Amino acid sequence: MHPTLNIAIRAARKAGDVIIRHVDRVHQLTIDSKSRNDFVTEVDRMAEKEIISILHQKFPDHGILAEESGAHNEDNDYLWIIDPLDGTTNFIHGFPQFAVSIALQHKGVLEQAVVYDPISQELFTASRGQGAHVNNRRLRVTAQKALPGALLGTGFPFRNPEHLDAYMGMFKAFMPDTAGIRRAGSAALDLAYLAAGRLDGFWEIGLNKWDIAAGVLLIREAGGLITDFSGGENFMESGNIVAGTRRLVPVMLRNIKPHCTDALAF
Ligand code: IPD
Ligand code: CA
Ligand code: CA
Repeated sequence: MHPTLNIAIRAARKAGDVIIRHVDRVHQLTIDSKSRNDFVTEVDRMAEKEIISILHQKFPDHGILAEESGAHNEDNDYLWIIDPLDGTTNFIHGFPQFAVSIALQHKGVLEQAVVYDPISQELFTASRGQGAHVNNRRLRVTAQKALPGALLGTGFPFRNPEHLDAYMGMFKAFMPDTAGIRRAGSAALDLAYLAAGRLDGFWEIGLNKWDIAAGVLLIREAGGLITDFSGGENFMESGNIVAGTRRLVPVMLRNIKPHCTDALAF
């Protein structure tokens, strides 16, 4: 295993410990609202502190982009992209679907990825060119080619109601043709599940870099494809993401594109 990935795993497990220590005490936590429907707890902040302290100790010059504390030294060739707790709303409600997400980019290329589910203790990892794994088992996306029979994951644009009509158009286009659509509440874990072959496809509007960076590398290393809504590569900037098997993504795009407003073109 790549030594840098090992450090990222250590950081993700430490953050997972913080989360688990508080999982039975969520009613005692202070919950702040960052913006509409965007919550943060002291657990998000504590978990992020643990991650950054481990990474910083080992790689003091590396840049950091973390959800709760923002960007530091972002111009360094190496950039860690961190979501200490993806699925905070689930966590607050005791709904056991949330994860720690950590990725490393070098000169803009994703190199290492960890998504850790502290409840199931599933550790999803990937290094560029070395494949993706869950608890050391090799991951592979499914062989799904068409919508009939496909299980899709998604996220609702609950913080961006201006995209709700476009989103509902996409949802309606998919629903009658697929085996089912799941909204589990942690984009990082949804993407890891796709890499693991538990979902065939995924789409969501307006995600942040820290929601998707690790999941993107997991999917690529598991043989899948990720694009923006135009079929291009702008998803890290736009946050509009379509992911799935190589054959399914073009089919998904045909259902998504007719509903895209100008603001969702990429
Ligand atoms: C959220 C989750 C959710 C997605 C939201 C994200 P957070 O992350 O990934 O599935 O629909 O857009 O913001 O806020 O819980 O870290
Ligand atoms: Ca997130
Ligand atoms: Ca988060």
